[in-house]
Amino acid sequence: MTTIQFLGHSAFTLAADDKLVAVDPFLSGNPKATMSADDLNPTAILVTHGHADHIGDTVSIARRTGAPVFGIVELAGYLGGQGIEATGFNLGGTASFDGGSVKLVPAWHSSCPGDGQYVGTQAGMVVRFGGKTVYFAGDTCLFLDMQLIGDEELDIAVLPIGDFYTMGPKDAVRAVKFLRPKFVIPCHYNTFPPIEQDAAEFKKQVEEQTSTKCVVLQPGESWEIS
Ligand code: NI
Ligand code: MN
Repeated sequence: MTTIQFLGHSAFTLAADDKLVAVDPFLSGNPKATMSADDLNPTAILVTHGHADHIGDTVSIARRTGAPVFGIVELAGYLGGQGIEATGFNLGGTASFDGGSVKLVPAWHSSCPGDGQYVGTQAGMVVRFGGKTVYFAGDTCLFLDMQLIGDEELDIAVLPIGDFYTMGPKDAVRAVKFLRPKFVIPCHYNTFPPIEQDAAEFKKQVEEQTSTKCVVLQPGESWEIS
């Protein structure tokens, strides 16, 4: 049994057995966060790219909990330089963590923390955990190679729909057609004014145009992956 929780914006956890994986744990300064970074106790942290709304509280959480961090090699070097354990790998590669694995896949976006350090390219992540396969697209536009990611037999695709910084709802529906997941969960919308979107309309379009079910989670809400 694997449970996914939406923490607001692009932050999620996956829970199975006694393990908890945090993805892009942006809580401090996240207007949609429903919990404090101090209350999140992951056993692994996955970071898709170097923007502040994705690195978020990674360093403070990793320092407090000792949770290992995983991300692309330059980003891992940057985070590891702040006194935490970080494993760096690269696109196409898979790294194992306690209870599962994460494969880095392409994303089209940019990636730079606030201090301007070079932290490599942005990535998406295919996470295998608790018997489920979950694709976190990170921040990206639509791209045709999502068809290849779809060959990973995804239970869930977590896709940005906010537009402006990433693909918007119409392109995200096209992404669902490429990815062919059982379920899609929208994220990266309604956090800030430029990315306001109607998730109910996205769900309607997904379910009219594809056989994928759309699960819209409110910040703080959990869903047991069926
Ligand atoms: Ni970004
Ligand atoms: Mn972002």
